[in-house]
Amino acid sequence: MLDKRNELNAWDRDHFFHPSTHMGMHARGETPTRVIAGADGVYITDTTGKKSLDAFAGLYCVNVGYGREKIANAIAEQAKNLAYYHAYVGHGTEASITLSKMIIDRAPEGMSRVYFGLSGSDANETNIKLIWYYNNILGRPEKKKIISRWRGYHGSGVMTGSLTGLELFHKAFDLPRAPILHTEAPYFFRRADRAMNEEQFAQHCADRLEEMILAEGPETVAAFIGEPILGTGGIVPPPKTYWQKIQAVLEKYDVLLVADEVVTGFGRLGTMFGSDHYGMKPDLITIAKGLTSAYAPLSGSIVSDKVWQVLVQGSDQLGAIGHGWTYSAHPICAAAGIANLELVDELGIVENAGSTGAYFRSELAKAVGGHRHVGEVRGDGLMAAIEFVENKDDRKFFDPAQKIGPQVAAALLERGVIGRAMPQGDILGFAPPLCLTREEADIVVKAAAGAIESVFSNR
Ligand SMILES: Cc1ncc(COP(=O)(O)O)c(C=O)c1O
Repeated sequence: MLDKRNELNAWDRDHFFHPSTHMGMHARGETPTRVIAGADGVYITDTTGKKSLDAFAGLYCVNVGYGREKIANAIAEQAKNLAYYHAYVGHGTEASITLSKMIIDRAPEGMSRVYFGLSGSDANETNIKLIWYYNNILGRPEKKKIISRWRGYHGSGVMTGSLTGLELFHKAFDLPRAPILHTEAPYFFRRADRAMNEEQFAQHCADRLEEMILAEGPETVAAFIGEPILGTGGIVPPPKTYWQKIQAVLEKYDVLLVADEVVTGFGRLGTMFGSDHYGMKPDLITIAKGLTSAYAPLSGSIVSDKVWQVLVQGSDQLGAIGHGWTYSAHPICAAAGIANLELVDELGIVENAGSTGAYFRSELAKAVGGHRHVGEVRGDGLMAAIEFVENKDDRKFFDPAQKIGPQVAAALLERGVIGRAMPQGDILGFAPPLCLTREEADIVVKAAAGAIESVFSNR
């Protein structure tokens, strides 16, 4: 076993190009390789036998938890009966058609069709293309700019990496590319003017957006994209009334709204969609992660009836839509999606995300909120974050070179719990499987308090 482990470690360093990893340190063996061997419920186990409570559900995706036989069996059955057929030129499978129906049944009002992809990134690429096509068909070819937010995360492709508003994803990649623009992040804790209350700050964000649209020319602005709650940018819920105020601006200038629900779709905020939770009325919705709980890669762009009608007009004028992926609506992934959505209902995990989420966040705030280096404990549903500051009174942040966030995440892992050091700021994030129990939440809270204490004890 040890020989095999050493061999895997060597192969890993020599041949595996890991995403979001320091390439040099990893290849030189300066950072550890962790080889995951199995998982059950909310726990993962590595090849050394070390077990960790995964309080980030992989990358906030394993919503129903690990080891669900129902999904594994659905995948196996589908692979045996029909491993693949494409979805081009009107082809479908029982799985892909059934899943489309299940998604629309659960989606917010006014949604009509699902275009399937494999990742959140490709679904957002689809959204951009559909928005451009939509405006071309409506005879306004100059209306193409897409406004995203600083700290938004929408993927890693050329256009979706441009939508993403995080430095790490732009640096040395020559991103962002036109015609993508970024407006202010709805990040109340980091607002420049601390005299503002939440509603005033929400109004300030809406005003900045309106100024940008007017400066660019409303006839050039096609869409606005946002996650209902900022995820990778720091797990930041919107300030009160933010979405109402933003939507009023979008309506005024005929700008489409894309709700990127890759993280929030299928229950994470205690409602089936984050749009329902915050009163958003999107024209397009991006889904991925929770659609299959990551048992198979599947994403989707949910298209509203308003947009669909124009797309239909487009193909009546131009012929078949020139947009397709070989693996769109892959039947094995669709079978995983059906079994997963059935489990979401059977286990009642949407409700659990709401109730256990509220319990978890309140216990976390009680345990660590008073710490001298904890600036804020925040979140919604089963998403939570702890933001660290050098000084609470004047909200002074640590020098990023000190890597406080990664240090706390490492100390947490030593205590048997996985959280995520978010990529921009000293922020420890949690987004556990939605089947988390209160007892498991208590384990996470205790480990977080211990980790924070150990990192700051000598400062
Ligand atoms: C909100 C959001 N959109 C899009 C993506 C991109 O998804 P993927 O990594 O599957 O391409 C992510 C990934 O974390 C995400 O959080």
